[in-house]
Amino acid sequence: MQDLLKGKRIVVTGSASGIGWETAKILTDQGAEVLGIDVNKNFDHVEEFYRADLSDPRAIDALIDVLPDGIDGLVNNAGLPPTRPAEQLIAINLLAVKRLTLGLVPKLRDNASIVNVASLAGFGWPQAVEAIRASETLDFGGIKDFMLTHNITNEGGRSYFFTKEALIVWTMQNRWTWRNRGIRINSVSPGPVNTPIIGDFLETLGARAEEDARVMDRPGEAADIAPVIAFMLSDLSQWIRGTNIPTDGGMSSNILCEMHGL
Ligand SMILES: NC(=O)c1ccc[n+]([C@@H]2O[C@H](COP(=O)([O-])OP(=O)(O)OC[C@H]3O[C@@H](n4cnc5c(N)ncnc54)[C@H](O)[C@@H]3O)[C@@H](O)[C@H]2O)c1
Repeated sequence: MQDLLKGKRIVVTGSASGIGWETAKILTDQGAEVLGIDVNKNFDHVEEFYRADLSDPRAIDALIDVLPDGIDGLVNNAGLPPTRPAEQLIAINLLAVKRLTLGLVPKLRDNASIVNVASLAGFGWPQAVEAIRASETLDFGGIKDFMLTHNITNEGGRSYFFTKEALIVWTMQNRWTWRNRGIRINSVSPGPVNTPIIGDFLETLGARAEEDARVMDRPGEAADIAPVIAFMLSDLSQWIRGTNIPTDGGMSSNILCEMHGL
């Protein structure tokens, strides 16, 4: 398919590496004007690049001010792996996504599409509903207290899992928030993908990662994920709303079948 995104202006966070880099590339190839955001400078495949540290709420607010109007798509992709401090993970993988999205809504065109890059790690969200509900009012200043109250640490990658669980739920909750303007929100959940942070996942998950590697035919590549994000930004997916799209080589189905003895 060609020109799937012709004339669309799309913001991509974490555009300097991995899935975000590949997404910027395919969006540009499909005719979009890509506005890239990252803490690391990289001008590949972007029309404009904005350097910003999304762990800082003031930097997010400044971005919201300087980004242009007329945005047709927002890809919330920037994220840290489970080896990084839990406080940063909650700030970047969850709170920054919410703050940037809510702040940019007035600059989105009608019928815009928002795509959150979650993870197979968010699959277990039904077991975390209490903490997820408590995180609805969480802001950057309250992260430490929240972690203590809900026992969210890096042990076994829990902080990373929590951020992705909460992101999948927030996406569902906002299925119809901007329906009167045709604006929709969905998440895409990759399984293990060969990017610079894959080693961090292997280190954190240990035996679980070895088991994943045993059952999978191959790890994913960024090029397996980016076309799905492109489709979710395109007008072809207009009736997909508030849902999570596993893009994981069959891993989430494998977990479900094993869980239910099917
Ligand atoms: N690689 C995997 O196995 C995998 C699996 C599931 C989900 N994901 C998710 O995919 C997304 C992209 O990950 P990736 O594998 O491409 O990793 P990556 O490290 O290659 O890319 C992440 C990008 O986010 C940027 N970033 C990190 N912190 C930032 C900050 N504070 N401000 C601005 N930019 C920041 C980084 O500089 C980097 O360019 C993440 O949200 C990650 O959780 C990855």
